[in-house]
Amino acid sequence: MSAIESVLKESRVFQPSDDFVNNANISSDAYNALCNKANEDYEGFWADAAMENLTWKKPFTQVLDESNAPFYKWFADGELNASYNCIDRHLIDKANKTAIIYEKDDGDSEHITYQQLHDRVCQFANGLKSLGVRKGDRVVIYMPMTAEAVIAMQACARIGAIHSVVFGGFSSGAVRDRIKDAEAKIIITANESVRGGKFTPLKSTVDEALSHGDCDSVEKVIVLKRTDSDTPWNESHDIWWHDVIQGQASQCEPEWMNAEDPLFILYTSGSTGKPKGVQHSTGGYLLGGILSMRWVFDYKSSDVFWCTADVGWITGHTFICYAPLAVGATQIVFEGVPTYPDASRFWQMIEKHKVTTFYTAPTAIRSLIKLGPDLPGKFDLSSLRLLGSVGEPINPEAWMWYYETVGQGRCPIVDTWWQTETGAHMIAPIPGAFPIKPGSCTLPLPGIMADIVDESGASVEQGKGGSLVIKRPFPSLLRTIWRDDARFASTYFPDELGGKMYLAGDSAYRDEQGYIWIMGRIDDVLNVSGHRLGTMEIESALVANPLVAEAAVVGKPHDVKGEAVVAFVVLKGNRPEGDEAQKVAAELKSWVAHEIGKIAQPDDIRFGENLPKTRSGKIMRRLLRTLAKGETVTQDISTLENPHVMEQLSESV
Ligand code: WTA
Repeated sequence: MSAIESVLKESRVFQPSDDFVNNANISSDAYNALCNKANEDYEGFWADAAMENLTWKKPFTQVLDESNAPFYKWFADGELNASYNCIDRHLIDKANKTAIIYEKDDGDSEHITYQQLHDRVCQFANGLKSLGVRKGDRVVIYMPMTAEAVIAMQACARIGAIHSVVFGGFSSGAVRDRIKDAEAKIIITANESVRGGKFTPLKSTVDEALSHGDCDSVEKVIVLKRTDSDTPWNESHDIWWHDVIQGQASQCEPEWMNAEDPLFILYTSGSTGKPKGVQHSTGGYLLGGILSMRWVFDYKSSDVFWCTADVGWITGHTFICYAPLAVGATQIVFEGVPTYPDASRFWQMIEKHKVTTFYTAPTAIRSLIKLGPDLPGKFDLSSLRLLGSVGEPINPEAWMWYYETVGQGRCPIVDTWWQTETGAHMIAPIPGAFPIKPGSCTLPLPGIMADIVDESGASVEQGKGGSLVIKRPFPSLLRTIWRDDARFASTYFPDELGGKMYLAGDSAYRDEQGYIWIMGRIDDVLNVSGHRLGTMEIESALVANPLVAEAAVVGKPHDVKGEAVVAFVVLKGNRPEGDEAQKVAAELKSWVAHEIGKIAQPDDIRFGENLPKTRSGKIMRRLLRTLAKGETVTQDISTLENPHVMEQLSESV
């Protein structure tokens, strides 16, 4: 093995069981047929999928319109409504089926049938209309993970209002920026959120966001009374959720939307600058989510689906608010956190609700390994049949634990690569069609023309790292950045690549079987003495050490090597200090040298009790890079889950 060969080059391959294969929605033959069809008749492939999976008020006659590339249009003369597709079309045969199992922070749960969901969405939609909300208006949703958050999003979709959900952990400044950028007419919030036994005032954060007097677009603030706390009140524009729905009819004719009409905006961070308002369409977006459910999650009507994301992120949009409902699934909406009342909450809930399909993030898996590697074994997890992972590369060690300890060796893991911008899965296993490998998101889905290219846009050879691109437009791709077409075009369809290839911003390589291995964001790739190193490779090596719970690696400028490797490490035990820290650091350096090669050995190791993470669990690499350089942190750290670790991580061993 060459010095820098990745530890991600896993040799293990896991075949699905016969039982899984025999019952799978997509067999390997069906998979090949889909790929062939997409290759031979691209538009026909997508047209068939859109006709089969969506219910159209007015069927489309046009499929793909490339005349104004990269502003592509799909199904542009068709009409449909997302809320109708998620709810009404199931009422014929699933009115009494549970749509949502809403589990609150304290463990109480409520079952909401499709009929009840319909009635509640309609009442709230009528309430919004009574407040003057019309098609195309923007509504900011800043809510805890409640059933009402889903109801609010669905109600917007029903009347054609464009929602912009802001994650409940964001600060008032972030809320304000998003209100202003989208010129929102209405804000929907709750008096407080309840997570892990803690109460966080959301309404007062909204008040703070509005207090600068520069959010003139806002006419009303709708407040869900989640707790009994006293709530600051502004008579001129505040209104309780229960008053909004008071006396409203439980029928509301959906607004028939053009397939290309925006369904929502969701702000996401770019590598620099202010967050971008990723704008998704109605038809193409919904189609992408449905195909992910059927192909990747192998959705069956008997499933109990649970995506643990927050609706504040794309994963919660697609895999809580829209796609599970669009296929008529029973799903869990969970208000709480994985560690409350203790670190067995996920496993306990899987047992309680007989969850079949469980979808979470590697960061959650790693923290649960740290807190209780044996806890899953104490629960009956026999209902599980499929596991999913999303958001970051999953290191093979966490993968193996997820596979063996949670899935008991029985459940395929679908490691799903996609982005806020892609709206739905892009590269992910079709679990009954081909085997999986720990740490690889496997193959592009049918119809997704993914490739790995060099700076000029030419495909790189197998085994070589490059930039992940998607060469043909696909329906669930973002349509633009809200009111910033120029930034959309230059960020995602750069001229250097010819202006027609979607640049994902990740680097990756293909192995001998064509399986794709994500190496990390392009900006996270290090160049050490002319060798390309994925930060993830080094992290993966570190995490493979029995002492290490979590690690993040960044580069810092180095006179001789170009870049040097800095590793921020959380041990499974206590944070080491003094001699002990020196000893462990030396051990880890030689460990990495042993696992990957001396070239990848960290120059600098820093220990913390945790890593700086956003409340969604993403490691703030930008901050780590600042710390690595020994510079003072001037970035805003107010949205960090755990600001106190910053000081620990600024100390070199
Ligand atoms: C990363 C989350 C490796 C990637 C759905 C991407 C992943 C970014 C995976 C998008 C995966 C997501 N393996 N990396 N399975 N899934 N990523 O917009 O760097 O929050 O570009 O969407 O997360 O993050 P976003």
